[in-house]
Amino acid sequence: MVLMIICVCNRINCRSVKDAVSAGARSPRAVQAHHGCKINCGKCTTMIGEMISEHMDRCLPQNPMLAAE
Ligand code: FES
Repeated sequence: MVLMIICVCNRINCRSVKDAVSAGARSPRAVQAHHGCKINCGKCTTMIGEMISEHMDRCLPQNPMLAAE
């Protein structure tokens, strides 16, 4: 399995980002902190943010009214 490197500065790959998001990280800074790192150049923040959004879209109910039932 090939894992795409998302953050070159801290060698964080796509699986590591998903692990952090599953554990509750909701910002690029939180993803970095989950792995004991800090944002360096910042080039990965857009990609990490998109991955967080995709995760949230998948996890949140499409119709909140249905979820309340
Ligand atoms: S690529 Fe992530 S901080 Fe530089």
